[in-house]
Amino acid sequence: MIKAVIFDLDGVITETSIQHFQAWKAMANMVGVEIDTTFNESLKGVSREKSLKAILKHGGILGKYSEEEMEKLNFCKNEYYKQLISQFTSANVFEGAVELFEYLKVRGIKIAIGSTSRNAPTLIKAMALEQYIDYIVNPDDVKNGKPAPDIFLKAADVLGVRPSDCIGVEDAIAGIKAIKAAGMYAIGIGDGEVLEEADIVYKSIAEIDFSIII
Ligand code: BG6
Ligand code: MG
Repeated sequence: MIKAVIFDLDGVITETSIQHFQAWKAMANMVGVEIDTTFNESLKGVSREKSLKAILKHGGILGKYSEEEMEKLNFCKNEYYKQLISQFTSANVFEGAVELFEYLKVRGIKIAIGSTSRNAPTLIKAMALEQYIDYIVNPDDVKNGKPAPDIFLKAADVLGVRPSDCIGVEDAIAGIKAIKAAGMYAIGIGDGEVLEEADIVYKSIAEIDFSIII
């Protein structure tokens, strides 16, 4: 029986890839690397640290900067990103998300956020969704990022439910892999051909039909 649903945030509940792209592009320019929207697709769901390394590799300069310098670059990127998301309100929540949260709440099903982003709590608050969320995983509290199952397993553990009683919702391939590795039912949001490892795929959160599962 389903007792909890663990949602990814970026690309599932709201759209932040434009802001992430703008911030990465500005940072990449500082170190003389060009990135485009096609390259940005490969950064979806990828941690800040791994994204920076992917950008440096893309520009052929991986290894040029020390760990300390890379930390500074990541700090700059995140400061700019925080500025870009500072205007987020409930208007940024994807259509259908609040209705879905209410559907789950009424049925006593727990809701968690399993995002790679350290900015998830800020966004959840800014979008006035705090009242629906029982737990937000801090990615720093787990050993391995997606595609490892750690983030989803942490949510299940804290909520006190078995992984097999959880559903995970994700828009990135690494996220779907993480949900399946955690032994959960995986709902993909996006393109069915891309997210082929998901148990079921919908084009958007508004299309999820929970009545077929719960
Ligand atoms: C993921 C995003 O959810 O979080 C990535 O899809 C992002 O683009 C990652 O890099 C880490 O986010 P943050 O906000 O901690 O830099
Ligand atoms: Mg995502």
